[in-house]
Amino acid sequence: MTVMANHNSNSVKNPLDAPRVRQAARELLAAVAEAIDEGSLSPNAYERMLREIERLRGQPLFYPAVSGGTGSGARVRLADGTTRIDFISGIGVYGFGHSDPDLLETAVAAAAGDAVYQGHLFPGAEYLELSKALLQHAGKQMKHVWLSISGAMANENALKLIFQKHAPADRVIVFEGAFAGRTLVMSELTDRPGYREGLPLRGNVLHVPFFDPSDPHSIEHSVSALEAHLKRHPGRVAGMLFELIQGEAGFNTAPREFFTALMECCRTAEIAVWVDEVQTFARTGELFAYRTLDLEEYVDVATVGKALQGSAVLFRKAYKPRPGLIAGTFAGSTVGLAVGARIIERLKSDGYLGADGRIAVLGGRFERRLDALRKRLPNTIGERSGMGAMQAFVTFDGSEEIVSAVVHAAFEEGLMVFYAGSNPSKIRMLLPVNTTDEELEAGFTMLEKAIRHVAEEKNLLT
Ligand SMILES: Cc1ncc(COP(=O)(O)O)c(C=O)c1O
Repeated sequence: MTVMANHNSNSVKNPLDAPRVRQAARELLAAVAEAIDEGSLSPNAYERMLREIERLRGQPLFYPAVSGGTGSGARVRLADGTTRIDFISGIGVYGFGHSDPDLLETAVAAAAGDAVYQGHLFPGAEYLELSKALLQHAGKQMKHVWLSISGAMANENALKLIFQKHAPADRVIVFEGAFAGRTLVMSELTDRPGYREGLPLRGNVLHVPFFDPSDPHSIEHSVSALEAHLKRHPGRVAGMLFELIQGEAGFNTAPREFFTALMECCRTAEIAVWVDEVQTFARTGELFAYRTLDLEEYVDVATVGKALQGSAVLFRKAYKPRPGLIAGTFAGSTVGLAVGARIIERLKSDGYLGADGRIAVLGGRFERRLDALRKRLPNTIGERSGMGAMQAFVTFDGSEEIVSAVVHAAFEEGLMVFYAGSNPSKIRMLLPVNTTDEELEAGFTMLEKAIRHVAEEKNLLT
């Protein structure tokens, strides 16, 4: 077993960075890319593949996209040899886009080590590396981290820590429109009835409205709702879950004062402030949106996932669980752990973080392009929401039907985007943080064509 160094201490070198390892990784990657280039599927074979996936899953893919295994930046090749610009990143998974040479080399080198997956009983050095990297960016109050594989699992761990500390409190507060994952309990914390149809519920979830920019008294309304719950259930509320930018609900944002007002209430009531950063992680300008919004002092427990290539719960000392509460076989794949740590290092050393960092700059460029598109196509682009590398906007009347038509038309033009929210439903983008200007321009050209196409088809241009 090799011993891996903390990237911030220069004492021991990371063996995965040894020039001969990187050179060997580059050669392997070049051979793989060459083999893939020779092997695109014919249209018929691709169609058969899509139908087979549909048959095995019992439902079709959202759009007919199966990765061909190579890409470059925001561009990705499908298995039929065609190319798309990917502005949704597999709903946030491909934070640095496709086939990033440095991340692939890291992955290949990590994959050639002892084991494909690592467990909590007997982890490798990558486990320590990633844990340290996360805590270094989480702020002084966060003392512990527990790795896991999916956002839902990190959230399950978070909720268990919170319930154990606040026992016998058995209720949790969430925002209207919350999304927390797909396990049974997280489906209940998620405010989408369709996502929990037929599931038995515990009924211990209480709701508070999220910030409403059209209501001048929105902060008071949400604080009153929170206070009313705390009054009605004295000693029974364990904590409140905050998505600082609501993901599934449509990238809804709120000013800092909205969160501080609610977090102060949580503090007074001595209930946990839990921030779910599974989708916001590495997208708002800092690694954690609670740092972008300067809320660090309030946060007791935070969860991360997606762009990290794994997941984790971070927590204050006061939330340290008693032995036996959180465990689980897998901590992550060796590749996921090593690449997660590298992503954090790259974000920091390559200038992605901070108010003037590349993520913030990308957000500004996106906004300017959207404004220009709105001018060219009046009445087709509505309100924009989100921040940095997570952006959404309303199109036409914001109906689910129109948004779906635009998303599918965009795919036909060569652009992968997705939807979020309802009333209004929005076009959602989780841009690779390294999206170039050229890619942004190409993506917007495709988006414009898609919107024009839907407008003409549905007779919507005025
Ligand atoms: C805010 C939030 N929390 C939790 C999850 C669940 O993460 P996973 O799908 O990795 O379980 C998601 C996934 O979309 C999310 O956006």
